[in-house]
Amino acid sequence: MGFLSVLSTAHQWIRERVSPGDAVIDATAGNGVDTRFLAELVGPRGAVYAFDIQEAALLATRERLAPLEDEGRLPALQLVLDSHERMAAHVQPKHAGAIAAVMFNLGYLPGADPTIITKPDSSIAALSEALALLKPGGILTCVLYPGHPGGDDEADAVAQWCAALPSTAGQAVVYRMAQKPTAPYLVAIERSRKRQ
Ligand SMILES: C[S@@+](CC[C@H](N)C(=O)[O-])C[C@H]1O[C@@H](n2cnc3c(N)ncnc32)[C@H](O)[C@@H]1O
Repeated sequence: MGFLSVLSTAHQWIRERVSPGDAVIDATAGNGVDTRFLAELVGPRGAVYAFDIQEAALLATRERLAPLEDEGRLPALQLVLDSHERMAAHVQPKHAGAIAAVMFNLGYLPGADPTIITKPDSSIAALSEALALLKPGGILTCVLYPGHPGGDDEADAVAQWCAALPSTAGQAVVYRMAQKPTAPYLVAIERSRKRQ
């Protein structure tokens, strides 16, 4: 049968913690696969923020969500053309500290310019912002790509950042195929259920 892929695992861990009506964030919209997954989970009473620095990514994401809009199942949606390290500035005050899940899928947009990639400094800054926006018990997931140029340094930096988090901030886990060191892997943090 085999273990779930990293993306399916991220979706499963999020599905277990997100309810209809929640507010959630896709920090790397890309082609909108994760944004649509989040939109279906929170439903029309929920809210979804999706960030990307490429207009083409946000256009593709809007297109992927069009069927939900046609069916009246679209949550309140904000597609934000800005770096995720500034996500807190775009989140409504009522959602700060109340976000149920934030998804990151680092790297480059498939089919587009592979030199436009996420970078360690802005990714770590964004992850810190995301953690602060989560509600107690909320989850942050991040898929890392050690197998592409630049992705290895970024994966190391993110893994070190996770390992150094105080346990009072949350519980960090790594899901990785041990025999495939260059395969994508997943880190996730569940925010502490006690308010800090
Ligand atoms: C691997 S793709 C994401 C795939 C996407 N989650 C999906 O479901 O299709 C990574 C995306 O991150 C975007 N990106 C790169 N740097 C970024 C930044 N600083 N802030 C937000 N998005 C960024 C890229 O433009 C690219 O679209």
